[in-house]
Amino acid sequence: MNNFIFYSPTEFVFGKDTEAQTGTLARKYGARRVMVVYGGGSAVRSGLLERVERSLREADIPYCLLGGVLPNPIDTKVYEGIEVCRKEKVDMLLAVGGGSVIDTAKAIAAGVLYDGDFWDFYVGKAVVEKALKVAVVLTIPAAGSEGSGNTVITKSDTLQKLSLRAPGVLRPVFSVMNPELTYTLPPFQTACGVADMMAHIMERYFTNTKEVEISDRLCEGTLMAIIEEAIKVMKEPRNYDARANLMWCGTIAHNGTCGVGCEEDWASHFLEHEISVIYNVTHGAGLSVIFPAWMTWMTEHNVEKIAQYAVRVWGVPDSGDPKAVALEGISRLKEFFSSIGLPLTFKELGVEHPDIDLLVSNLHRNKGEFVGNYVKLTPKDSKEIYQLAL
Ligand code: NZQ
Ligand code: ZN
Repeated sequence: MNNFIFYSPTEFVFGKDTEAQTGTLARKYGARRVMVVYGGGSAVRSGLLERVERSLREADIPYCLLGGVLPNPIDTKVYEGIEVCRKEKVDMLLAVGGGSVIDTAKAIAAGVLYDGDFWDFYVGKAVVEKALKVAVVLTIPAAGSEGSGNTVITKSDTLQKLSLRAPGVLRPVFSVMNPELTYTLPPFQTACGVADMMAHIMERYFTNTKEVEISDRLCEGTLMAIIEEAIKVMKEPRNYDARANLMWCGTIAHNGTCGVGCEEDWASHFLEHEISVIYNVTHGAGLSVIFPAWMTWMTEHNVEKIAQYAVRVWGVPDSGDPKAVALEGISRLKEFFSSIGLPLTFKELGVEHPDIDLLVSNLHRNKGEFVGNYVKLTPKDSKEIYQLAL
């Protein structure tokens, strides 16, 4: 096991009606003026935004609103938010939504206190040293941004979708998580969330770091819980306990717990980000296409952990032939994804003729000559993986 620092100071307030505590929590964390950030309207339609506003008013916290964050969020909303925050003297960003809204709030929080262009942080020209506080009312279990120090933003003019990790400053101070808020999710968004949280665990699980039994077992157990609970949720969207388990899985998958002590991979995420930025597909759907392709490629290049995953997560009998075992595990994963309505190929994703050369060149332009760690992918390797997803 490698050395690590694990610092995860977010206060999670989990359960029914917890959004009513938002104002009190904002006060506890010293907010004097809040900007509420939200998306394309689901929080308005469900009445959640009004309940959150009421809670802020009851706690005597002045606030302003910034709506209209798009899925796969773009830089223009961040610039707009930075301007409003400076003018209104906001000191806390409250994200009401999913990963796109939370990531936009985090980018604004970092950008407000920085003299240059916030994008400098994403391209590595500057390091985030301070940020406004970020808090969350979560509406979709998927990206795990409610417990992570990461944010992913797309620069619309250069079509770069890049992630920034700043766990010391960008982890939310509190995250309110009411599983009932997820009842209104369309089945496809629920399924995409499942693929994303599974991917967050697998990016950590597929590692060459040895002797990490605690991380392995946490990953395997959480993956098995996600699979079981997802099946229940797809059948009964208003099953509170299944929704609750799934929601907490999404947080555990990405707040760092599952990967401590390991060298993580993240190639599948980077391969996917190039797809969602060009074809504007949902992140989780892109992952359900790319992750099995990446794993299939790995059966030829580094099969060991893929075979372990097949045995321990999918119950594939260990026949002593790791490649055959691994391929059976991948086939069970695909069957599961398909059963909850996720695509497995570019075509099913709605991308008939992907421009693979463009995807490969953008990927290596953004991430360098080698991508990932489980096997360091060259452009030739990345191309083969994209081709396996056709
Ligand atoms: O915009 P509204 O109207 O709210 O609708 C959203 C959106 O269309 C809808 N939705 C959310 N909660 C709902 C709901 N609809 C009905 N009822 C509800 N309760 O769902 C759609 C998707 O929302 P979005 O926020 O985009 O989903 P998600 O949480 O999957 O976030 C995806 C983004 O997060 C990034 C992804 O790349 C993508 O840009 N990621 C962020 C990470 C991080 N910060 O740590 C890690 C991830 O790997 C990921 O890359
Ligand atoms: Zn993800």
